[in-house]
Amino acid sequence: MKGLILSGGRGTRLRPITFTSAKQLVPVANRPVLFYGIQAMADAGIEEIGIIIAPETGDEIRETTGDGSQFGVRITYIVQDEPAGLAHAVLTAEPFLGTDPFVMYLGDNLLQGGITELVRDFKANTPDALILLTPVPDPEHYGVAELHDGRVTRLQEKPPEPKTDLALVGVYMFTAEIHDAARAIAPSPRGELEITDAIQWLVDQDRRVEPHVVLGWWKDTGRLEDMLEANRLVLDTIERRVDGDLTDSTVDGRVIVEEGATLTRSTVRGPAIIGAGARLVDAYVGPYSAIGAGCVIERAEVEHSILLENSSVRDLDARVESSLLGRDVTIGRSLGQPRAYRFLVGDSSDIGIA
Ligand code: G1P
Repeated sequence: MKGLILSGGRGTRLRPITFTSAKQLVPVANRPVLFYGIQAMADAGIEEIGIIIAPETGDEIRETTGDGSQFGVRITYIVQDEPAGLAHAVLTAEPFLGTDPFVMYLGDNLLQGGITELVRDFKANTPDALILLTPVPDPEHYGVAELHDGRVTRLQEKPPEPKTDLALVGVYMFTAEIHDAARAIAPSPRGELEITDAIQWLVDQDRRVEPHVVLGWWKDTGRLEDMLEANRLVLDTIERRVDGDLTDSTVDGRVIVEEGATLTRSTVRGPAIIGAGARLVDAYVGPYSAIGAGCVIERAEVEHSILLENSSVRDLDARVESSLLGRDVTIGRSLGQPRAYRFLVGDSSDIGIA
């Protein structure tokens, strides 16, 4: 069985972070979200993984992820020239996939508990496709499934008036028949070849599409709130490990302080992670924070936030909360007079001042 990870999406909902970086590389608990999918496949015994990349962000994904040896797998990169849909991505990968069955995993999705058991079930029951479903409060934003007597009867992509609250999770298992399905369908109103329509084609051909309702949590990390929630869910699972240097500082609860990080007169309350080489001085870092490598927090407080590498927050009166800062961002105060805010901010940034 092979693996196919889709990492071609443009990430428009996470701008401006995604102007300069692929959304699949935005970190959750200081690890690119893409790595969780690769790890889940590696844990399930999948050794051959194809990663679909877009021309714009592909190089960065390739450089960060490498040949797969860090996960014990072999990675092949496949360029999808245009964002023409998930079923189009499958067709683009056909030369790599051949006639093998495969797991498809959307590169910005996170699934608790991995896919090991699902892969085992798929191999044992040999359906033509296996889809994962989970109840959501806003099904109109997802592919939505209708079931009757435990069988899939209808799938619709982002229906304005969903018939059920069962959303398609971004993890699928297919046999090679999905290639015929992807060739048979027409583009959707948004102009894409939808994987949801391809699976509906299998249903229409009386193929066996097995539904599996996910019991643990699942996150599509397309938006800021989802990123923060994914970060919370993963930080809730970490074990305490303090490898950095503490001077007159307190580290409470489940906290990882990576090697080379220094804390001076600071408090960190877990669950939280402080990346390698980060520097905290007279700082407070509260629960559900992921502070990237090389970040600096001085005379400031940060809680429930994600800071990417080498960002700094200094001399703030109020706490930074529920925020996502990109790489090399500097937030501080200009001390002179007149007392005023001074900004150099990129397109699509979102700044809230209390
Ligand atoms: C895609 C699929 C949708 C699925 C979702 C899961 O949506 O088209 O059926 O429910 O992923 O994350 P997209 O992220 O392309 O809007």
